Amino acid sequence: MLYSPINYQGNKSRIVDHLLAVLPQNVTSIHEIFCGSAVFSFASNVHNLFLNDINTHITDVVRYFQNNEADDIIDQADAIIAQYGLTNTFYEGKEPYPEKKHEGLSRYNKEAFNRLRNDYNTDKDIAKLFVLLIYGFNHYLRFNAKDEFNVPVGKVDFVKTLRDKTREYCQATKNREITITNYDFRRDELYRDVETSAIYYFDPPYLITQAPYNLFWTEKEEIDLLHIIDALNDSGYRFILSNVVESNGKHNDLLDRWMQQYNVKHIYRQYLNANYRKKNLGHADEVIITNF
Ligand SMILES: C[S@@+](CC[C@H](N)C(=O)[O-])C[C@H]1O[C@@H](n2cnc3c(N)ncnc32)[C@H](O)[C@@H]1O
Repeated sequence: MLYSPINYQGNKSRIVDHLLAVLPQNVTSIHEIFCGSAVFSFASNVHNLFLNDINTHITDVVRYFQNNEADDIIDQADAIIAQYGLTNTFYEGKEPYPEKKHEGLSRYNKEAFNRLRNDYNTDKDIAKLFVLLIYGFNHYLRFNAKDEFNVPVGKVDFVKTLRDKTREYCQATKNREITITNYDFRRDELYRDVETSAIYYFDPPYLITQAPYNLFWTEKEEIDLLHIIDALNDSGYRFILSNVVESNGKHNDLLDRWMQQYNVKHIYRQYLNANYRKKNLGHADEVIITNF
């Protein structure tokens, strides 16, 4: 199991052990086309990683971990936390900050968080972005059309578990050969001059679930992707695709029909769907599709 401290939406920590279980031993490189925080690649012991994501902000964060030691990342975060007067209950304890129900630490941090967010949107300092991801609502990484980070304050601060995850995730980026690109998944360069001992890993936005990056994912993108994967299969490449065929009563018929030609591992999951009015049990059918 590998967790990242930024808990990027759609990251594969929850199913990473299932993914590692299908990863063949003799793979010489992983080409992760929708890498996000690249939890699967970093959880593997494969040395050569080719990480691609259209979103430069998430790959900047990955690079920040790759190029820095965990102690320095944590020290820099603590310095920014102190500079802006954010809570730091790891050192201060929780007593000074009695929490009202559902609010967590948000009311203590709101003003300082907004100042930090304004400053980050001016200077785009990556260490500040890391602190914003820790203190931001649900650790979301979201920018508006003007390329401004626009997530509101969240409920937690830099607690021990997030410090531990920072160390663990940072360590996982070390001693690797990593190439990062920011292409659309259809770019030829991603599929050129790749040895057949490599493996492709695809974890695209999902047609039937919600995340900020899913907004731009339509049936057209889905069909283009499935064509690319079929072509890789025809050329003798191995691939892994993770996706969701059923979630919250929605079904991805297109994917369901297409995946019948390959090997499919189902991971069924139940989760509590809670809103202010009612609570009900949702279920999801997450799939890992391979051609080997
Ligand atoms: C489900 S997330 C991947 C999460 C990742 N597996 C992890 O562990 O964090 C899907 C990713 O696809 C990226 N994406 C969306 N559209 C894309 C496109 N057209 N080309 C390349 N990447 C894209 C998003 O920015 C997002 O990071």
